[in-house]
Amino acid sequence: MVRRVEDQLRNSDELSLMFGFQNLSDGVRSKTLVQTRGEGIFVFDEQGKDYLEATSSFYCAALGYSEPELIDAAVEQYQKLPFYISAQQKSVPVVLELADKLAALVPMENAKVAFGATGSEANEFLLKFVHFRNIMNGEEKRTKVIARLGSYHGGTLVASSLTGFTDHHAEFGLPLPGIFHVAQPDHYNQAYEGESEDAYATRLVADLDTLLQKEDPETFAAFITEPVSFSCGLLTPPATYFQKLQALLRGYGIRYLDDEVVTGFCRTGNFWGAETYGIDPDCMTMAKSITSAYFPVSAVAMSGEFYEGLEKGSDALGTFAHAGTYAGHPVGAAVALKTIEIIEKRNLLGNARAMGAVLGSKLAGYADHPLVGKVRHVGLAGSVEFVLDKATKRRADKPGSIAGFFGERALAHGLMVRATGECAVLAPPLVITANEIDELFRRFDLALADTLDWASREHGVV
Ligand SMILES: Cc1ncc(COP(=O)(O)O)c(C=O)c1O
Repeated sequence: MVRRVEDQLRNSDELSLMFGFQNLSDGVRSKTLVQTRGEGIFVFDEQGKDYLEATSSFYCAALGYSEPELIDAAVEQYQKLPFYISAQQKSVPVVLELADKLAALVPMENAKVAFGATGSEANEFLLKFVHFRNIMNGEEKRTKVIARLGSYHGGTLVASSLTGFTDHHAEFGLPLPGIFHVAQPDHYNQAYEGESEDAYATRLVADLDTLLQKEDPETFAAFITEPVSFSCGLLTPPATYFQKLQALLRGYGIRYLDDEVVTGFCRTGNFWGAETYGIDPDCMTMAKSITSAYFPVSAVAMSGEFYEGLEKGSDALGTFAHAGTYAGHPVGAAVALKTIEIIEKRNLLGNARAMGAVLGSKLAGYADHPLVGKVRHVGLAGSVEFVLDKATKRRADKPGSIAGFFGERALAHGLMVRATGECAVLAPPLVITANEIDELFRRFDLALADTLDWASREHGVV
């Protein structure tokens, strides 16, 4: 018997913590779910109820919640040297080793690596590097940056400006000047009647070209994307989208920045999302799964060619006036190195591919469900997009209410999904097993049955 979610929640008015991504005053129905421990892919709340974390908690816990080798790696480094700065020609062995490891892993030649603590910070640092490089290399006109609607790039001022939740820019006085947004590839919702995926990709890139021409392409520094955007429902792009996009940008000398904060570390069925989608980036950012989120670590990786421009500028000035106290934290570096070692020695890329195939075929089975308009899948990630009518793609008047209801019912049945827009996204830990995928979909089915009942009652779905 499923307990009501409310039984698991604390009254928010008793709490001093200010939450985000929710209404500050009433939160989740004035209640807050408090998780106390984790085991494998499950987390447990204060009453001991288990939740299968099918989003790895914001796409973070790649190795699940109780990996002793990660904890031991942290403890060992705490005992050796809990902190030392990496700046001014000082560092720590594990930090140097992690930079070498990442430089070898990224799909860029002679790569260099800089560290941060969060994904936002990595994106923020990267934009700062891009501006420095242009200013110090005679390209000071190139100041503008393009991102995509619906993509999340973080919570700091620049990262929030890049984030394509443009409905929420004005209230924070954003975006910062010179940041533009173009459409996300969403063939299901945006293609014209009968328009092929290829023709749709051509149109999106032509629209981008129109924007560049209008603004003057030589004033643009960079374009930033995640290989696939989880924040707006795992909108898997048309097969030719990135190829067309990169050809256009290359022609104008506009840098390609690849945000791998969610897609890095095997999520899309390759180590990097860039490999899955044929992206040839100038620079990449990463965070979250880099330590399975056991320690806050992020990184910017850049091609040798990009780095050389930074070095040239730095030589001209005699310094590179940038650092972060926790950029290259030794404990974080030790945990990141261990995370990568575990991914390699346990072949978690192989597991992500094998379990991703199982997840994908299970999801494909929902394509005929009356509430499912579109199923999307890549690697060990998938989503369903809800509609009230498959033929007309009708939605409820309140945007996101079907996925929102589904997400609440999933929670009640002990399943964490990410409801965004009308999509419910799944991205379980890389360590998930076939039996656990069965359990995930057992809970998913219960939530879907509840949602269909509700949609029949409230919206006349049959
Ligand atoms: C694609 C992407 N980039 C950047 C970020 C920002 O990372 P953080 O929350 O660690 O600052 C996120 C966070 O969810 C993300 O999904």
